[in-house]
Amino acid sequence: MTIVRLVTASDKPQWLVLWKKYLEFYASTGNKAAEHVPDTVTNTTFSRFLDDSEPMACLVAEDESSKTLVGFAHILWHRNTWAIEDKIYLNDLYVDENIRCGGVGRKLIEAVYKYGDEHGMPTVYWRTQEFNHRAQLLYTKVGIRDGFLTYKRP
Ligand SMILES: CC(C)(COP(=O)(O)OP(=O)(O)OC[C@H]1O[C@@H](n2cnc3c(N)ncnc32)[C@H](O)[C@@H]1OP(=O)(O)O)[C@@H](O)C(=O)NCCC(=O)NCCS
Repeated sequence: MTIVRLVTASDKPQWLVLWKKYLEFYASTGNKAAEHVPDTVTNTTFSRFLDDSEPMACLVAEDESSKTLVGFAHILWHRNTWAIEDKIYLNDLYVDENIRCGGVGRKLIEAVYKYGDEHGMPTVYWRTQEFNHRAQLLYTKVGIRDGFLTYKRP
């Protein structure tokens, strides 16, 4: 059975393994930034997850019997001119490739929704690459498309 919980400091070695695989996944899709995430960024990101004053959190999926981490959801939250409460952005989602299509990705997203409800941030949104059809198989079940396109500074 897989449970989802907030990350702790002692999870770092296992989280790091998944994080590297996640960056490799993105690098394999042609994302150059994923090839060059420096260790200082990785370490800062992880320490921010543990810092209550930072608007970021990491939920990890753990196989209860083996105590192995099998996935993560990284979230951050921010102000919104259209509402009083902050909204959550799901920045990263990853499930170990050996256990995909077993419902863990869904569990992670549902845990993000629960986290949002418990912290007064019911709005959750995220992006995906248009060719990431596998992720979209999950997203169409747990979310709706909002019709916005993303642009960035060249
Ligand atoms: C995207 C990702 C997180 C999904 O995780 P997962 O654990 O495989 O997802 P789940 O098993 O919870 O959900 C998959 C859903 O899609 C469905 N699905 C998966 N493969 C399918 C297929 N080939 N045909 C039809 N439906 C399929 C499943 O039935 C499931 O729906 P259900 O919960 O109603 O049964 C995982 O594939 C991953 O980590 N990919 C690499 C990184 C990535 O792309 N991250 C997202 C970046 S935006």
